[in-house]
Amino acid sequence: MAKILVIDDDKSICETLEMYLTEEDYEVHTAFNGTEGLKKFIEITPDVVILDIRLPDVDGFIILEDLRKEDENVKVIMITAHHDMDSAIRAMKDGAFDYIHKPIDINELDITIKKALKTLDMEQRINGLLMESCRDFKIGDIIGTGTLMREIFKTIGMISQNRATVLIQGESGTGKELIAKVIHHNTARTEPFIAVNCSAIVETLLESELFGHEKGSFTGAIMRKLGKFELARQGTIFLDEIGEMSLNLQAKLLRVLQEMEFERVGGKDKVKVNARIVTATNKSLKELVKQGKFREDLFYRLNIVSINIPPLRERKDDIKPLVAYLLSKINLDLHKRIIGVSDEMMDVFYKYRWPGNIRELENLLVRAAVITKGQVLEKEDFPELIETMRGGEGEIEKDEHVISGRFLTIDEIEERYIRKVIQETNKNKGEICEILGISRPTLERKLEKYGILFERE
Ligand SMILES: Nc1ncnc2c1ncn2[C@@H]1O[C@H](COP(=O)(O)OP(=O)(O)OP(=O)(O)O)[C@@H](O)[C@H]1O
Ligand SMILES: [Mg+2]
Repeated sequence: MAKILVIDDDKSICETLEMYLTEEDYEVHTAFNGTEGLKKFIEITPDVVILDIRLPDVDGFIILEDLRKEDENVKVIMITAHHDMDSAIRAMKDGAFDYIHKPIDINELDITIKKALKTLDMEQRINGLLMESCRDFKIGDIIGTGTLMREIFKTIGMISQNRATVLIQGESGTGKELIAKVIHHNTARTEPFIAVNCSAIVETLLESELFGHEKGSFTGAIMRKLGKFELARQGTIFLDEIGEMSLNLQAKLLRVLQEMEFERVGGKDKVKVNARIVTATNKSLKELVKQGKFREDLFYRLNIVSINIPPLRERKDDIKPLVAYLLSKINLDLHKRIIGVSDEMMDVFYKYRWPGNIRELENLLVRAAVITKGQVLEKEDFPELIETMRGGEGEIEKDEHVISGRFLTIDEIEERYIRKVIQETNKNKGEICEILGISRPTLERKLEKYGILFERE
């Protein structure tokens, strides 16, 4: 359970937050002044501190500084007066994680806390990765049988000879990070693999995360801190969700890529970039360029070698070997002896759209392995999936012709339309054929093609 400390002299705010956050399953502590707050902080080492700037005994900024002296990574959310932009900016410069205005909007606070915890988790994981450098990820860990996947293996082999910048694109859960690690393993396995999620860290902090800062470059910078580019040494820096990076930071990153050197925030010394840069996105960067959200020049710099991972629904032949591979992993982790998945269930797997791709498959298998009573996973072991697929629902599609800024293809529109008619009419197959004006075999072919599960005769 994550721990939160609220430091505010307004008792009613403390009480409200305590009540609300406890209900949200956080362990909450409160303090009514700075001195007490600091004492409690040392005692309970909370993950997140919510800190009022105006306190009766000590200035909130001083407390912020003290908290960060105790723990450089602490996530502090400052509470500022509504129109006081100067304090808000200063809070960020001094190393607060974020700020919110009074009167407190509980939803906004909730989102900010979640973001802080996600960042904390990521930082811990990055540190973990630093320790073990990179677990042994080999090409054998990527399951893939079709021509598209084989092309990807070839590309990985090819770039193991050089240090070219690689852009990996694919829907969420398709294995972008896995591929990044395998690339790393093939080129620089004894050096660090450092992952940075560009969407999880607020912009002001991301710059110093990436490039580091010098002591005294801003009030919270009590020590020189090395950025991820430097920490990656001759290894790999993996910039995940690069599409989320702000235009401002994109400009800075572009300059670094052009010169292959940079300065730490507040510093003058040039630091060389030696690491291989691998970036990943689940959005189409080209589309973002068209929309003016991503710099075209940076796109070309990142896209020296590109790897486009197809979604699982476009490589259904991989489902079987993936299930076998994932089950053997799960058996090891959970001390189980699952032999496989029933044929009936396998059919459902082939028909499902897999919006969450391999991660979704993996999660479903883990859950099924936990609840199953036998050694073969059956329909009963996948209740949510069966529920989703019931009555031809297999993932309800919205009635839109544009998604993530691109027009749908004719096939996509056709698929959506067929699903819609099936869902909304509650008719049998013969009647559906009549409505759609197609023959029975044509309908069957289309159901098969789009993986629509439809059992009403
Ligand atoms: N081809 C594959 N063979 C075996 N396992 C895979 C494959 N692709 C992905 N996985 C597994 O699926 C899970 C998700 O992969 P990964 O985290 O690399 O995806 P991602 O594309 O980075 O996802 P996201 O966009 O959600 O961050 C991981 O456990 C990974 O090991
Ligand atoms: Mg990922």
